Amino acid sequence: MYRTTPPVIHLKDYRPPEFLIDRAALHFDLGLEETAVHAELDLRRNPAAKRGDGDLYLDGEHLELLEVALDDRTLPPAEYEIREDALVVHRVPDRFRLRTRVLIRPADNTALEGLYVSGDMLCTQCEAEGFRRITYFIDRPDVMTRFSVALAADAERFPVLLANGNPVGEETLEDGRKVARWDDPFPKPSYLFAVVAGDLAAVSDRFTTLSGREVPLNIYVEPENTDKCDHAMRSLKAAMRWDEERYGREYDLDVFNIVAVSHFNMGAMENKGLNVFNAKYILARPDTATDMDFAGIEGVVAHEYFHNWTGNRITCRDWFQLSLKEGFTVYRDQEFSADQSSRGVKRIEDVRMLRARQFPEDAGPMAHPVRPDSYIEINNFYTATVYEKGAEVVRMQANLLGPERFRKGTDLYFERFDGQAVTTEDFVRCMEEAGDIDLSQFRRWYAQAGTPVLECADSFDAHTGAYTLEIRQHTPTTPGQSTKLPLQIPFAVGLLDAAGADLPVQLDGETEAPAPGTRMLALREAVERFTFVGLDAEPVPSLLRGFSAPVIVRYPYTDAQLTFLMAHDSDGFNRWDAAQSLSVRLLLELVAESDKPVPEAYIEAVGRALKQDDADADQALLAEVLTLPSESYLGDQMTVVDVDGIHRAREQLAAAIGEQLRDALLGVLERNQEPVEYDLSPAAMGRRALRNAALGYLMRAPTPDIVERCRAQFEAGHNMTDVIAALRCLVDADPEHVGDAGEQALTAFYQRWAEDPLVLDKWFGLQAQSSRPDTLERVEGLLEHPKFTLTNPNRVRALIGAFAVGNPLRFHAVDGAGYRFLADRILELDPLNPQIASRLLYPMTRWRRYDEIRQALIRAQLERILEVEGLSNDVYEVVSKSLG
Ligand code: PHE
Ligand code: ZN
Repeated sequence: MYRTTPPVIHLKDYRPPEFLIDRAALHFDLGLEETAVHAELDLRRNPAAKRGDGDLYLDGEHLELLEVALDDRTLPPAEYEIREDALVVHRVPDRFRLRTRVLIRPADNTALEGLYVSGDMLCTQCEAEGFRRITYFIDRPDVMTRFSVALAADAERFPVLLANGNPVGEETLEDGRKVARWDDPFPKPSYLFAVVAGDLAAVSDRFTTLSGREVPLNIYVEPENTDKCDHAMRSLKAAMRWDEERYGREYDLDVFNIVAVSHFNMGAMENKGLNVFNAKYILARPDTATDMDFAGIEGVVAHEYFHNWTGNRITCRDWFQLSLKEGFTVYRDQEFSADQSSRGVKRIEDVRMLRARQFPEDAGPMAHPVRPDSYIEINNFYTATVYEKGAEVVRMQANLLGPERFRKGTDLYFERFDGQAVTTEDFVRCMEEAGDIDLSQFRRWYAQAGTPVLECADSFDAHTGAYTLEIRQHTPTTPGQSTKLPLQIPFAVGLLDAAGADLPVQLDGETEAPAPGTRMLALREAVERFTFVGLDAEPVPSLLRGFSAPVIVRYPYTDAQLTFLMAHDSDGFNRWDAAQSLSVRLLLELVAESDKPVPEAYIEAVGRALKQDDADADQALLAEVLTLPSESYLGDQMTVVDVDGIHRAREQLAAAIGEQLRDALLGVLERNQEPVEYDLSPAAMGRRALRNAALGYLMRAPTPDIVERCRAQFEAGHNMTDVIAALRCLVDADPEHVGDAGEQALTAFYQRWAEDPLVLDKWFGLQAQSSRPDTLERVEGLLEHPKFTLTNPNRVRALIGAFAVGNPLRFHAVDGAGYRFLADRILELDPLNPQIASRLLYPMTRWRRYDEIRQALIRAQLERILEVEGLSNDVYEVVSKSLG
């Protein structure tokens, strides 16, 4: 079939913009069906750029041009050209004012980029390239403009009219329309532009900044949701304070506004002074949101707020630098969340997520560096690599410098680049200067894709008391990058004695032994050898403590050593990691050997962990230790993923724990009952996590009294964390044990929550993730449910995404029905919302990991998609790279 392949954009082709836009005055006549946008742009030639052909190129898509005028002269058609994605104005002067008038159609905008309709409101999403759907502009982040905005709309339908910056006046016109004016004093790239109009209610508060300025804070929501904003507001104020204390960063406008919308492609957006959120990351009440939801809100509210400095005041020169703002801001929100509750648990969650999402990406066909070299569609590069690996790369620099020098480095960065659009290189140079260290080799982390593997081996010389650790690093090849260079890797190591205590980690040649504890080694070469001295007996090494670098460590631990580390390692992260390694190893053995019994030693180790549940235990950490690795993570550890074997083995192990440790697990339930007063303290969340982990095991081998408990927990409806945990158990349990309790609970849940979209998403998701054999049929049935729609991304993710990503057993059914189902949905979605369609492809990009039958089935679906005419660039890029 003939197709013109979309162009590839390369970092090496970066050129400064030929024109700059110093000021933009925009006037919107807002309407759902039709909105008119009048733009007045002050343009001038960029002295730093080469002269082009004398024409001005403005980006613009899906715009109906009504008029264009240059310095107040309306241009005749001969003086400009309208292209599908641009307006070209011929022979422009060096400095001039350009006026355009365009019409756009928000109600037809299902892609949710540009100006669109969500419920009864109008809102915008401009990152990365959505502003070109609002008006003709030079839509790239290195063009920074001072925007002023006037919004005119029907006063009754749109009483709230918001834009970036400060409000500078509002008037109601005689015809019943209202005009609101906003002025943003800070120059910004167009991707940070936003407007919102609607009949919204505000939840308001105030914040006094470091220098004593009082800033009103508003969270705008649909009126029925004002009782679900407390947690977001509390998180916002905590984030504002934290950024002052930790980074010396103060808020800079007269007001800070947040809007929650129901239709949103991503989590949230950091538009200057007007953050727009997916409602999922704002709205929460104990009866509607789980502890995980609450934590997500805290993290995302902080993330968007932190962007005000890392992203907005200092922005990206081009989209290859995306991690400049995202990696740094994720690092900042991770540290903020760590400070709000348990640092150790937060680190475990972040690493679990990195391993589940970024490691597979780095090992697959879409692998790319933290700073990519090329892309077809930038929307495909909002990835775990740019975000989460990018955060690890900043974290490593923070650790290399230590807190004081890192703060000096960030101070320098903010001072030097405020108001500019810069690169990751600019960031690293600040760290280098302030930290007085050489990061030349470290820079490879930005340029080289793939997860480094560290093969570790050791030997002990009983005569000399010397222990030698040998570490070989290598990074597997990734698409387009066949040679890999050694990286600078901070590698935190501890050595344990036979009683489990930390030993001094003293390098050969050092005259004095350091205090017992962790030692940070700097790896630079492909092979490194470290000799430690002064040891009476062979130590047990604790490697990559705190996950000091985003790498995979291989060391031939015995089961006994892992059990030992799980019990004794002074590093909480490595205690958890040892437990994970032990479970992974056992589960892979159970996959290989289906009639192998679960070893007693393993059950005993879990039993010992359960005994740690006492008054001063960290229940959240214990819950993490008790959580078995997911089916997908287990698949990632196999040469060829054994979909059915993994599910069977994991169920077998969970059931063995549930049966053999029944009394201990019941003890956990007893000790961790919910106090009458529900709260969100880390301790209370830890108790709920641990109790529900225990319930999950017990329900794998349920006796009638356990089923009764589970049903009672569901019916009590004390809080959503407990309700969902119980519901999940009932839905997944064998009807032989629970009868129709699962169905009944689902019905009750639906009746209770049918009108709350975010809670209803959970109802869809739970059914899509069920391991029951008829799940696909059920999911297909749910597509027809009156509450299902392809035009709401949250709903699509809840049903289709949850099935494809969260249910490997049923999605990868060997008859290929799951694959066909997903491909059908992607093809339906692509014309509506290419970003969401493209993201749903993810599980199919991993086809090489499966057996031949499944490989052929998935490939056939990918090829079928590629045949379709008029595919979006988003889907085209992912499918073609996956097959290539
Ligand atoms: N910049 C947003 C964030 O990380 C994410 C986003 C990207 C939202 C693109 C919408 C569109 O906070
Ligand atoms: Zn971000």
